[in-house]
Amino acid sequence: MKIGIFDSGLGGLLIARAIRDALPSYNLVYLGDTLHVPYGSRSHETVYELTRRAVEYLFTAHNCQIVILACNTASATALRRLQQTWLADTYPDRRVLGVVVPTLEKAIGLGHTHIGLLATEATVKSGVYGEELRKLNPEITISAKAAPLLAPMLENGGLKYIPPVLADYLAPLKASKIQSLILGCTHYCRLSDHISQYMGRDTPLISQADITPPSLKDYLHRHPEHDEKLSKNGNIQFLVTDLTDGYNQHAKDAYQDVVDLQLVNY
Ligand code: DGL
Repeated sequence: MKIGIFDSGLGGLLIARAIRDALPSYNLVYLGDTLHVPYGSRSHETVYELTRRAVEYLFTAHNCQIVILACNTASATALRRLQQTWLADTYPDRRVLGVVVPTLEKAIGLGHTHIGLLATEATVKSGVYGEELRKLNPEITISAKAAPLLAPMLENGGLKYIPPVLADYLAPLKASKIQSLILGCTHYCRLSDHISQYMGRDTPLISQADITPPSLKDYLHRHPEHDEKLSKNGNIQFLVTDLTDGYNQHAKDAYQDVVDLQLVNY
C-alpha cells in the first residue's frame, strides 16, 4: 500500500519532494486537484466535498493506507469532519493526516508568545489554527493574515509579480511584531526567500516542507500497524486532475527534478 499526498494544486510538490528525500523507500502518490485550484476562496462545504472525493480516489484507485492533506485549506476546513464522520464510518482502517497540529507544535517549540500566520482566506476564516493553538498552549497569541492572491499567482506562473502583493500582505504582520511566521499554505514554501527578506532574519519562518517529513516519520514509528502495510520500492507517481503546458512547467520549477504528471479523472 502507498502513502498519498494531497494538495489543491502543485504547491504541495515541494512537500512531496521533502517526504521523498526523508523516506526514499516508501511508495508515494501525489495528487494535485489542478482542475479545482484554488481551494482557498471556496466555501468550506465545497472544499470538504472535493477533499473527500480525492481521498476516496487515493484509497480505492491507488491503494493508499495513509493520505496526508498537505493542503492547509483542506486540513483546516475538511480534516476534522472527514476523520470524525466519513473515515470512521467508511474506511476505519485507513488514516488521513493534516498539517495544522504538527505546524503549531513546531511553532510552540520555538518558545515565542506571538506567532504569525499567512494563509488562504478559507484557512484564516476557519479559525482552526487559533482553536488548535488554544488547546496546545493558550498563552500564545496568533495573528493571521489572509493572502488570497498568492496561490493563484504562483499556479499561473506569476512569481515575478509577487513582491509588491506579498509586501502588502506582510505589512500588518510585521507591524504587529510577530516573533515567527507560519507559512500556512503549501505554495508559500516557494516564497520563503522573498518572505524572509521582507520580515527580516529575526522572524523565523515555519515551513511545512521542513515539518511534514519528520512528523510523518514519527507517526510511522509510533504506528507500526500502518507502517508494516506500506510498500517500500521507492516509487513515486504524480497525478493531476487537469494538465496543461503551464502545469508541466510549474511542476518542473517547483519540484526541481523530473516530474511526469499524469492526468486522472474521478
Ligand atoms: N494548497 C492550498 C493550501 O495549502 C492553497 C492553494 C489554494 O488556494 O488552493 O492552503
